[in-house]
Amino acid sequence: MPEIIVDGGAALRGTIGVGGAKNAALKEMVAAILVPGRHRLTNVPDIADITLMADLLIHMGCRLQREGDSLWIVTPEQLRPEAPLELVRRMRASIVVLGPLLASCGEAKVALPGGDDLGARPIDMHLDGLRKMGAEFRLVHGVLHGEAHNGLRGAEIELSFPSVGATENLMLAGAVAKGETSIVNAAREPEIVDQANHLNAMGASIRGAGTPIVHITGTPDLQPVEHNVVPDRLEAGTFAIAAAITGGDVTVTGCIPSHLRMELSKLEDTGAMVEKGEGWLRIGGPVRPRPVDFVTLPYPGFHTDLHPQMVALLSVADGTSIVTENLYDARFRYVGELSRMGADISTEAQHAVIRGKEELSGCPVLAPDIRAGAALVLAGLRADGRTYVGDAHHIDRGYQDLAGKLQKLGATIARSE
Ligand code: EPU
Repeated sequence: MPEIIVDGGAALRGTIGVGGAKNAALKEMVAAILVPGRHRLTNVPDIADITLMADLLIHMGCRLQREGDSLWIVTPEQLRPEAPLELVRRMRASIVVLGPLLASCGEAKVALPGGDDLGARPIDMHLDGLRKMGAEFRLVHGVLHGEAHNGLRGAEIELSFPSVGATENLMLAGAVAKGETSIVNAAREPEIVDQANHLNAMGASIRGAGTPIVHITGTPDLQPVEHNVVPDRLEAGTFAIAAAITGGDVTVTGCIPSHLRMELSKLEDTGAMVEKGEGWLRIGGPVRPRPVDFVTLPYPGFHTDLHPQMVALLSVADGTSIVTENLYDARFRYVGELSRMGADISTEAQHAVIRGKEELSGCPVLAPDIRAGAALVLAGLRADGRTYVGDAHHIDRGYQDLAGKLQKLGATIARSE
């Protein structure tokens, strides 16, 4: 398994660009199965999850070609409407093919994803919404068999929680279903807005994306288009926290600072200097961060996928912080690893109490998931001595060359395969 080796102590300085958002690009790749023809996405990050989604689309009969940050997807007239366990297990986001397959093929066989590194992660809202649109499901030997032989029809769907994946699945299905679909209590993430912009460019009629109620008028007449993926706010946020934890001065370009309002405001509360303009933000780290409490929530709340990185920063704060995690029951799995580096963190249910220490101390740790892996690298940048972040393949799922980019900013960091 790959490992990232960090020698702590250097303050990061300079300018770094971010790529397109993983969590938008993955679903925009799936939009290609709604209509045969040649689709193009630009600003697509070169990360492991994109390769996994490409493998899934190839399994279904699409052809894909990458040129730099562009991805061409050629969708055939006839798809093979199934997602096998080996792909779904490696990337839960595969479940988002369910709605579009039912809408365009009238059937789908998708292995049930089960839980992952972040906990149980049920898909009941995806299924309830698609049932309201006319789909029927049977579970056969761990594979979900879905049928909608008379096509999907529009429906009013209330989500009990603003789930990103359920909103996307239903938006994709609603775009080609017969009639009007409304999603009430929809997720409002910038990636949802980007997906709606992509689908609308293809000829869909989606209104209200980015608000709690999304209205979709289905149409059979979508066309392939070219679409530029929205910048990755999680990569931008990770570099911002990296600047703060090292007391550095970093400008992040190619990002949209308004997508990180809550996170940047919390960084300012730690004493970091935050400047922003169109397409860039600049972070100057405090010598020692102040403690800050935060609660993870759906957008525009504090993003759960920046929680572990922020806790790494707070673990060297001058005081005690309290963090509440509301999205994932297993998000705190990294705490044991961070504690090995000297952090003083106790957890109880979804709360963590972080008693800031003056120093962390480098040692071998294991990345339990994408964001926790990034957090351990950031902790290594601040720690005394050498940190070995093992299981770095988790980090590769969501970050394109994290070590290389940090090195450009002055970190002493290397990767070993
Ligand atoms: N949930 C249910 N039932 C459902 C759907 C979700 O109970 O039918 C629960 C989940 O278990 C979770 C919460 O609702 O506790 C939120 O899940 P959501 O559906 O919003 O998340 P997701 O679509 O599975 C996406 C991102 C995650 C990100 C979350 C929250 C992708 C591929 N993944 O997951 O990204 O944390 O939204 O913003 O878009 C990452 O990039 O590292 C990552 C984990």
